[in-house]
Amino acid sequence: MSAAANTAPETILRATSLLADLTGSAPEGIWSAPGRVNLIGEHTDYNDGFVLPFAIPHRTAAAVARRDDDRIRVASTFADEPVEVALDELGTLFPTPTGSSPRVPEWAAYPLGVAWALREAGADGFGVDIALASDVPVGAGLSSSAAIEGATASALNELWDAGLDRTALARIGRRAENEAVGAPTGIMDQMASMLGEPDAAIFLDCRSLDAVPVPVGVVDAGLAILVIDTRVSHSHATGGYRERRASCERGAELMGVPSLRDVSVDDLPRAAEIMDDVTFRRVRHIVTENQRVLDTVRTLRERGARAIGDLLVASHASMRDDFEISVPELDTAVESALAAGAIGARMTGGGFGGAAIALIEADAEARVSDAVRAAFAASGFAEPTVFTVVPSAGAGRDA
Ligand code: GLA
Repeated sequence: MSAAANTAPETILRATSLLADLTGSAPEGIWSAPGRVNLIGEHTDYNDGFVLPFAIPHRTAAAVARRDDDRIRVASTFADEPVEVALDELGTLFPTPTGSSPRVPEWAAYPLGVAWALREAGADGFGVDIALASDVPVGAGLSSSAAIEGATASALNELWDAGLDRTALARIGRRAENEAVGAPTGIMDQMASMLGEPDAAIFLDCRSLDAVPVPVGVVDAGLAILVIDTRVSHSHATGGYRERRASCERGAELMGVPSLRDVSVDDLPRAAEIMDDVTFRRVRHIVTENQRVLDTVRTLRERGARAIGDLLVASHASMRDDFEISVPELDTAVESALAAGAIGARMTGGGFGGAAIALIEADAEARVSDAVRAAFAASGFAEPTVFTVVPSAGAGRDA
């Protein structure tokens, strides 16, 4: 794994101190992985479609020490108690039966799930202590979970000499998320966290897993990307996310195709005839969103970031009206940012809470942020957390 990581020194220090509290010793190494923002392409990943996420500067660090037995212990600055099991026991803990909670505290199912999935993939290694610290906001839809998975997978891949490449490690992370945590998500977040590059979004074909970096050029164009964390927290293990996924599967079945990737905008009139209105609108979101990802990639290449505003706005409208995964706070974030002059804005991530992004002129940051905060206050919503991000490096070794 390359050493491109650039984790905040404070986050590394917190991981290292936690490991020292646990073991009394220094780490053998420190690995980290970032959260992500999705520029466009929502809920298309599990439909074999296209997405365009980028890694953000916020990262999770894993400080890791070798043990002289065959046990694995994980600790997190977010949890009071570490969780320790024998490596051989991982196979009795996971997979978590569908619909039930993991047999370990949920936070521990991410790193332990990664260790389990690596062993399932043939990796065999010694016992380890892993201490996790993170500056990725939790529950904000910025993939704090993919950051834990990416940091843990990168560490164990190297220490256990598993030799997996970044795409394979992203698959390991998704397997942990799906089968250990029990959240039926796609692979976008893990791929973004593993493959992120400075100043580029990752154009990912979720069927082939071909990933191409597409320069975003935000800074050169005098622009910035604002994240508006609504602080409405969401979970993808239950409820709406699972339901949307089921609707997409039903839509694909009715259209007689393996996945909605195989339905084009021209097929939509036929889809409208053969399915109920709700299923049709779910399908229409996926089909038009796939097209918007392709249009965004082309527009970025031909005309630059300043020209993608309308695509972001259309994506938000589709999620709000057709896929119905927005919430009033996300709509307020998008509308108030646009009213204050943002070039484009949309909710990002799985929805039902979390964050929105706005593409703005770099010198308008204070004005747009203030306008969004004022709109939240006027609606009686809790104050959002607003900050800028730049596309950043993926998982790596820090020390
Ligand atoms: C969550 C999931 C991803 C993806 C997005 C929606 O972030 O983890 O796999 O489905 O929602 O685009």
